[in-house]
Amino acid sequence: MATPGELALLHAVLEPDELSHIKRLLGSWSLLSDLSFSDLILVVPVSEDDEAQSGQLVVLGQIRPSNRSTRLHQDLVGESTTGEGWAIAREALARGEIVRGEIEGISPAGPIPSEAIPVRYGQRVLGVIVRLGREEARPAVSSPERTYLEAFDRLAAMVAESAFPFAEADVGGEESPRVGDGVVVVDEEGRVEFASPNAMNAFHRMGVYSVPDGRRLSDLGIEESAVEWALTTARPVVEEVERRPDIIVLLHCIPLVAHGSVSGAVILVRDVTDVRRLDRLLLSKDAAIREVHHRVKNNLQTISSLLRLQARRVPAKAGREALHEAERRVRSIAIVHEILSREPGDQVSFDEIVAALVQMAEDSVVGQGRVHIEVTGDLGDLPADVATPLAVTVAELLQNAVQHAFTPERRPHRPGRSGKRHPEDQARPSGQVTVDLRHGVHGLAIEVRDDGVGLPKGFDIERTNSLGLSIVRDLVVSQLDGTIEMKRVPRIEGGGTLVSIEVPTGPRR
Ligand SMILES: Nc1ncnc2c1ncn2[C@@H]1O[C@H](COP(=O)(O)OP(=O)(O)OP(=O)(O)O)[C@@H](O)[C@H]1O
Ligand SMILES: [Mg+2]
Repeated sequence: MATPGELALLHAVLEPDELSHIKRLLGSWSLLSDLSFSDLILVVPVSEDDEAQSGQLVVLGQIRPSNRSTRLHQDLVGESTTGEGWAIAREALARGEIVRGEIEGISPAGPIPSEAIPVRYGQRVLGVIVRLGREEARPAVSSPERTYLEAFDRLAAMVAESAFPFAEADVGGEESPRVGDGVVVVDEEGRVEFASPNAMNAFHRMGVYSVPDGRRLSDLGIEESAVEWALTTARPVVEEVERRPDIIVLLHCIPLVAHGSVSGAVILVRDVTDVRRLDRLLLSKDAAIREVHHRVKNNLQTISSLLRLQARRVPAKAGREALHEAERRVRSIAIVHEILSREPGDQVSFDEIVAALVQMAEDSVVGQGRVHIEVTGDLGDLPADVATPLAVTVAELLQNAVQHAFTPERRPHRPGRSGKRHPEDQARPSGQVTVDLRHGVHGLAIEVRDDGVGLPKGFDIERTNSLGLSIVRDLVVSQLDGTIEMKRVPRIEGGGTLVSIEVPTGPRR
């Protein structure tokens, strides 16, 4: 659904680059709001083609200061403004200059002393920022407040000159600090004119206790190049300054530009030590989980090799085969952990698992004829606790298909002309297996189908006590709360066996 701001945009006439200028402004104007202690409203003119609405302004954005209480409790975004109350906005739009006066009709407390700042982009005035409530109109304004307000005035002039917000490439990440985090204002030489209490706290944590006024950050022992860069290039610069052992402070320098030359900079300062520490913890937690999966996989592979070695020493064929089967089952679980060890999080790409299982099943029929296994559809990423039992299930079903479906001796006897086997049957202990993966209405749907001999007569998965399908039944029905159905496909439909599994995706019991 479109936001009111997006709807309002439909009425505005903005070229794509003008639109991105507006979006950048909306992305960075919390600075303006906080420095001016004011609610800001961005209005743009409504399309002239819309005759009934000509001369109207529509509100594209609204922001409240984080360091003062708001004067505007209603949400104006998306509303259009007519009437005399907004005259200063229309005037700023027409003249392209900052206009001071009053905004009427939006507060029951009466007219609010306000300021309308034209938002220029290149030659064109795109809209107007209305700043509600001029703090400087108050009789007693403290000195830090005055510093903020002066910085705001310089930024407001930049907005009117098309110098703020900065060009696309210069915009920092989302975690740019806010005024409340800490502010330093420097002159064009980089000398500190003002540092807010929170900025001082950040400096203290870096071990800097001297009075910063009139000195450069580098003179104070803060090694940074951001301020100098911002002052020489007239572009914003973000830098993280690290102080051993583990204090990290983010500096976001915004140069103040007047008529094309830099007259100073506002530096937003934020102690990000805790944030970074959390990031690192999260990163290492992710890495630890991956490492655990890696080790589980290695252990499973060791178990599977032990089983393989043991199988070689068992003289009885039945025992040997049982050990081989066990070895294969362990390997199919190892595949899931192998994939989990490569990706962060507990989601695992099931398609990748299926590809590995298919490879494993195909490898197991070497020398017994050709079986072609095809995978259609996909299930995307699945949580590990669903993917693991499903992987074992698919492995069993593929194994059954390659093991039982295409054995020539169990092929139905179709005598050829000589009374021997039908030539086609003789030539072909080979066939086609299809694995279909889908997100169905009831959850995950998996179908494994082969065109082989079909299930033995009277076979019933509910009642079988053979190991492979008992495991499958237990995993699907008991563990995943799903259903499984196995049936012979009639010969006219190609013959063979069809196994259909459905597993609900919602929360399980
Ligand atoms: N795709 C299939 N085509 C034909 N017969 C099948 C198929 N799948 C299973 N069967 C039959 O169902 C029986 C039971 O299968 P199940 O997987 O439970 O045991 P198994 O494969 O014989 O032994 P294991 O425990 O090693 O898997 C098989 O012996 C086979 O006769
Ligand atoms: Mg089996």
